[in-house]
Amino acid sequence: MAKQLTVSILGCGSRGAYAYGGPMNRDVDKRYKIVSICDIIPSRYERFAKSWGVAPENCFTDENEFLKEKRSDILVIATQDRDHVRQAIKALDLGYDILLEKPISPDKQELLDLLEAQKRTGKTVMVCHVLRYAPAFTKIKELLDSGVIGKLLTVEWIEQVAYWHQAHSFVRGNWRSSTETSPMIMAKCCHDLDLMQYYAGAKCSEVYSVGGLDFFNRANQPEGAADRCFECKYNETCPYSAENIYITRWKEAGCPNDNWPFNICCREVPNTEENLRASYKENQYGRCVFACDNDVVDNQKVMMKFENGVSICLTMTAFTHGGARIGTFHGTLGEIEFNADEDIKIKVFGKPVESIKVSDIVKEKMLNSFGHGGGDYMLLTSLYDAVTSGAASETALEGSVESHLMALAAEESRVTGKVVKVH
Ligand SMILES: NC(=O)c1ccc[n+]([C@@H]2O[C@H](COP(=O)([O-])OP(=O)(O)OC[C@H]3O[C@@H](n4cnc5c(N)ncnc54)[C@H](O)[C@@H]3O)[C@@H](O)[C@H]2O)c1
Repeated sequence: MAKQLTVSILGCGSRGAYAYGGPMNRDVDKRYKIVSICDIIPSRYERFAKSWGVAPENCFTDENEFLKEKRSDILVIATQDRDHVRQAIKALDLGYDILLEKPISPDKQELLDLLEAQKRTGKTVMVCHVLRYAPAFTKIKELLDSGVIGKLLTVEWIEQVAYWHQAHSFVRGNWRSSTETSPMIMAKCCHDLDLMQYYAGAKCSEVYSVGGLDFFNRANQPEGAADRCFECKYNETCPYSAENIYITRWKEAGCPNDNWPFNICCREVPNTEENLRASYKENQYGRCVFACDNDVVDNQKVMMKFENGVSICLTMTAFTHGGARIGTFHGTLGEIEFNADEDIKIKVFGKPVESIKVSDIVKEKMLNSFGHGGGDYMLLTSLYDAVTSGAASETALEGSVESHLMALAAEESRVTGKVVKVH
């Protein structure tokens, strides 16, 4: 059997427990063994502790107690955006190799402090830019590097957030406030900015950005609407209502027992129509989307210029039916059209169009059951290789800090209306 790495998880929520803990525990090659966990809410980890076989004395609710000593080879940090750097620096000093959720931090000084700590300790910090590991996204990089469309000059890229995801996470949910977590361009698009520097093959030099919170505010609340969906006459008809998002969409999804985003609205498992409705009646997910305390934007564009002359326009918008990333890459000899949920079309000038189905790429690698087009799982393979053999990781800290600097520059540009240099 290959060397087994022991793992601790800090933050047993949607990412820590479901995206990483579950797949690590089920890993067929048994590369990982989860040995300790910490979450401020014990009910979040109790179920996992039992099924992963973590002893009660290795379950913690206080991060200071948990971070008093090194408890495993790897630490997964999947707490909220503003906790990451404080916890990661302590962990590096204890000697951990770290899998760190994105965004690393929305604070520039913190980014630099963490980079300094990583260099000082020489430990691995791998950032969860999962799309870099998703086969359909890596296929695009392969095609660009093959020169099939000549020299890349421009890219149009759209991050389709999806109307229900915006309402769930960025209007009612954890990422609604830029001061509590991160600005939207950091929270939702640091993956996209990271991909853009990867595809451009150069550092971004300057950005210009426009955007705003133009819809999910009090001015757009329909006449006579109530501030809570349960009491609102539009609960059955409004596409953003809690009834539509947590009951109708849950039924359309086949009434899953324990799937995101329904299991965030209702933490009681299995999810049922009754407990979902009872939850949204009481909690933050039952608020009218036009009467929340949200301040993050619902649309934003970022124009980017790269050091090698490539220029890219990224659009982030809440107002889409589905959530696939789509893009067009224009080169001197052809173009590539990409839809992460459908296909990759290679249109070399003067030749017939070639098409590759994304589902075929994902199936071929047997990654259908993993999140982010298989990226959540492939990232764990790269983590294993980085820690056991020092293999270079696609999302090592230094490169990932770069995409965060792009996000900070974009936000500054959006707020000031000026072109902003990234460095
Ligand atoms: N890589 C991706 O694609 C991706 C996708 C979604 C979210 N994220 C990021 O992952 C992180 C976690 O998001 P999530 O969706 O899992 O959130 P979540 O709320 O489901 O989970 C976070 C967990 O951390 C726990 N926690 C909070 N503070 C803690 C502390 N001080 N000590 C111990 N536990 C603490 C919470 O109780 C919760 O269970 C966030 O930074 C988020 O931005 C990344």
